[in-house]
Amino acid sequence: MAFTIAIDGPAAAGKGTISKAVAAHFGFAHLDTGLLYRATGRRTLDGTSPLEAAQNLRAEDLQADDLRTPDVAQAASRVAAIPEVRAALVDFQRAFARRAGGAVLDGRDIGTVICPEAEAKLYVTANDDIRATRRFKELSGSGHDVTYESVLADLRERDARDSARAAAPLKPAEDAVILDTSQMDIDAAVAQAIAHIDARR
Ligand code: C5P
Repeated sequence: MAFTIAIDGPAAAGKGTISKAVAAHFGFAHLDTGLLYRATGRRTLDGTSPLEAAQNLRAEDLQADDLRTPDVAQAASRVAAIPEVRAALVDFQRAFARRAGGAVLDGRDIGTVICPEAEAKLYVTANDDIRATRRFKELSGSGHDVTYESVLADLRERDARDSARAAAPLKPAEDAVILDTSQMDIDAAVAQAIAHIDARR
């Protein structure tokens, strides 16, 4: 039976980690929809037009090693503001969401636009300093040459663009439960997410 869990929120709030843990707990498939925009943005850095990049995405593009860089994140956020790019990616996400056996999708507009009928919706957030600190540790730990200040500036710029755009802006769905992970470790955040979803099953 299809069961869709929508997990949205700003950059580096913990969506990815929580989504993976929730998917593993329920035995559901997981789609990090940010990868669709990152892979699209990544191809525009080579000169491909955003729409052509989005229309020709292949599954293997989502596995590229260099999708996690700050440059690609910014390119992702720029292409993500283009309505035609978003439209080109809708069918794939909706088909994934309704697959038999259940699905977790994380992104910015899953609960609002992609899956407004999702059975469970979470909006995961945390304050800017916590998010920048976590992302800085992640990036510097994997060998990227970044400073805390540059990471904070990147997150703020993307959040501002993602929230202000006309097409599917970043915002909680009206029926989403807000999970603020600023004062929570990952185990506590995952436990709260699972408790919320259990209550909807
Ligand atoms: O989640 P992640 O940081 O990988 O997303 C990269 C960018 O892709 C975001 O800043 C946002 O602009 C865009 N995005 C989006 N809608 C989604 C997922 C990501 O607009 N559902």
